[in-house]
Amino acid sequence: MSTPLDSFPRFPLAHLPTPLAEMKRLREALARETGNRLPRLFIKRDDCTGLAGGGNKTRKLEFLIGEALAGGADTVVTTGAVQSNHARQTAAAAAAAGLSSVLVLFDTVPYQGSAYRRSGNLLLDAVLGADVRIVPGDADAGAVFTAVMDELKAAGRTPYFVPVGGSSAVGSLGYANAYLELGAQLDDAGIGDAVLVHASSSGGTQAGLVAGACHRGRGPEIGAINVYRSDSDAMAEGIHALACKTAALIEAPAPAPGAVVLDHAHLGERYGLPTEAMRRAVELVARTEGVLLDPVYTGKGMAGFIAQLLAGTHSRREAAIFLHTGGMPGLFAYEEEFASV
Ligand SMILES: Cc1ncc(COP(=O)(O)O)c(C=O)c1O
Repeated sequence: MSTPLDSFPRFPLAHLPTPLAEMKRLREALARETGNRLPRLFIKRDDCTGLAGGGNKTRKLEFLIGEALAGGADTVVTTGAVQSNHARQTAAAAAAAGLSSVLVLFDTVPYQGSAYRRSGNLLLDAVLGADVRIVPGDADAGAVFTAVMDELKAAGRTPYFVPVGGSSAVGSLGYANAYLELGAQLDDAGIGDAVLVHASSSGGTQAGLVAGACHRGRGPEIGAINVYRSDSDAMAEGIHALACKTAALIEAPAPAPGAVVLDHAHLGERYGLPTEAMRRAVELVARTEGVLLDPVYTGKGMAGFIAQLLAGTHSRREAAIFLHTGGMPGLFAYEEEFASV
């Protein structure tokens, strides 16, 4: 069946559809901790999108690289924190499309682990051949981007700028598509009433999912865990605006502001700093399901998912699904959090 998504340039990068797997052993472990009824638990494996360690950005990059190629770009410029999964996947996507990549990484996270500024995603960025520029966390982002774009143009290059997290309306198309993919998997499994929970930061994943839900016109409901900003209301407003733009691109009805649901209780001190609940969630899911999460996004997202389940938030539902958005290389950057030797 064709959808309005088919009319956008798209460079194939992802292994799709990603699996939807049941988490029976996690459910058993949680049942021992709560008297509340638990729905069936599933995990949507977007860590298995296949590009250089996988993750959610691969879906966005199919559309972003598609647009870059259509515009004749030869270099992709993007940005994020030092341990950005998005930057690593952008470097890989650029390589796969025959483009160069420049990663402007802001040193914003005050994490002092010994591997943070040499391993994890940063190591993979180097292996992928990216031109990595680490800048101070308080640098003026607009001025830094303008200088990099001007420098590349002066060198005769045609750069294409990808915003943080790939979270433009075009990037979010990847998650409108993911929502339709998940909807079809739930239909095939005969599951009608479900909630989808995931970690949200730059917001393109959530915006795309919300737009996809408007296009589909029925569930699953989406509930995100804020792992990024202390000002959750402003974050939700920004995501709603992006969801409206994405919905307009695919000719779907505009989402209501209430469609952007953010749980603020699991961020901890700030973005990128570990929490005890994150550590427990990473270890529990690894030890019950053999699935590796990450310390910055999916670990906190899973901590939120587990807290909601234990509290009975989803008790009346048939199924609760966690969207695994990737990030596993981040474990190596935070080795002190997990190493017991
Ligand atoms: C592993 C992982 N999960 C979730 C997210 C959040 O996605 P978004 O930025 O679209 O909100 C990111 C963003 O970098 C990520 O790397």
